[in-house]
Amino acid sequence: MGTLTVGAIREQAPGERRVALVPEAVTLLHRAGLDVLVETGAGSGAWFGDADYAAAGATVVPADELYERADAVLCVGPPNAETAAVLRPGQVLIGLLEPLRHRALTGELAERGVRTVSLDLLPRTLSRAQSMDALTSQANVAGYKAALLAADTYDRFFPMLTTAAGTAPPAAVLVLGAGVAGLQAIATARRLGAVVSAYDVRPESRGEVESLGARFLDIQRPPDEESGAGQGGYARELTDQEQQDQREALDAYIARSDVVITTAQVPGRKPPLLVTATAVERMKPGSVVVDLAASALGGNVEGSEPEKTVVLDGGVTLIGAGRLSSAMATAASTAYSRNLVALLRHLLRDGELVLDPSDEITGALLGDGVEHEPADGPTATQEPAEGGAS
Ligand code: NAI
Repeated sequence: MGTLTVGAIREQAPGERRVALVPEAVTLLHRAGLDVLVETGAGSGAWFGDADYAAAGATVVPADELYERADAVLCVGPPNAETAAVLRPGQVLIGLLEPLRHRALTGELAERGVRTVSLDLLPRTLSRAQSMDALTSQANVAGYKAALLAADTYDRFFPMLTTAAGTAPPAAVLVLGAGVAGLQAIATARRLGAVVSAYDVRPESRGEVESLGARFLDIQRPPDEESGAGQGGYARELTDQEQQDQREALDAYIARSDVVITTAQVPGRKPPLLVTATAVERMKPGSVVVDLAASALGGNVEGSEPEKTVVLDGGVTLIGAGRLSSAMATAASTAYSRNLVALLRHLLRDGELVLDPSDEITGALLGDGVEHEPADGPTATQEPAEGGAS
């Protein structure tokens, strides 16, 4: 049995600056007995040079050599079709592969016997999986950056300031969607001194919002009084009528806000539309809207476009910011690679990667249509997942 070789590729999505492994993670994997390959230039967007990787114990190689030698290929976002085509049967691809959105990619890989481990399928509420929770680590960075971006764009102060030149009122910030990104945006805006309100369809988010010193909006619950909570801690998709009622109830709060940050998502669905163009028109000139859900499928804000900032006729700046974790690539990559190290430690048994579908964590991570290990493979372990790199 040879030494297990893992390889971190250079990300391929346009504008993506993150990298799957940072040098400190290479050191940890190397110490754990793995051979680590890193594609030439993979870390440059996050300020890690090839020499840093080599010093940490990696072998820096061109892409074709990496695909040839790696038993497991590590990435942040899904690779492009060209790369997917060169992956070989038996190889394992690990990353935020978004199988619900990229069924063709994961389906095609599964057909060819390439196994996929999609970090975005991790059970979020399982405490022993927390160190591997890349959606959380990346959303945390995005939420923080969203508040900073809003503060930077807003032409007034976030805190109340009393000076010899008079008193400036605090900014009124509204955060819609209080999951991981939303809670971090709330915390960051609060640290900057803004007065923050927030809303989420999951009733349990009220306590989390209030514990951060923000006000939870008492808008009408879905008309049937049903909870907006769905499976696995996520929200469910609201009905058309519920969405319509929600938008109407939110309109007045949006008009009164100086800054609106939206983060609402429903897994596998297009993001819910929470802020209409009419609501934005009612905001004061100089107001700022940051849509973290902006994507090719649409976002939470009518008219927002991914990676595009526009100043609307009414003087409101609308920022489509679907990839904010990449805008803080060093922090995001460091956290992501700690998640990967924790995952690899979980999967490693006697120097081999074991993809055991009966394991609660591993089973969830195996992508759509993946050829699972035979059912008589190794049994699930009870040991807690080890923490990430410290
Ligand atoms: P997400 O990115 O899927 O969605 C962001 C937020 O949008 C969620 O809070 C969701 O409830 C909300 N949302 C969806 N539709 C909405 C609508 N129409 N109006 C207003 N808000 C709407 O969620 P994220 O941040 O990935 O978190 C998913 C869940 O996992 C949360 O419940 C979170 O608390 C939980 N979680 C639990 C962890 C743990 O127990 N250790 C760790 C990480 C996450």
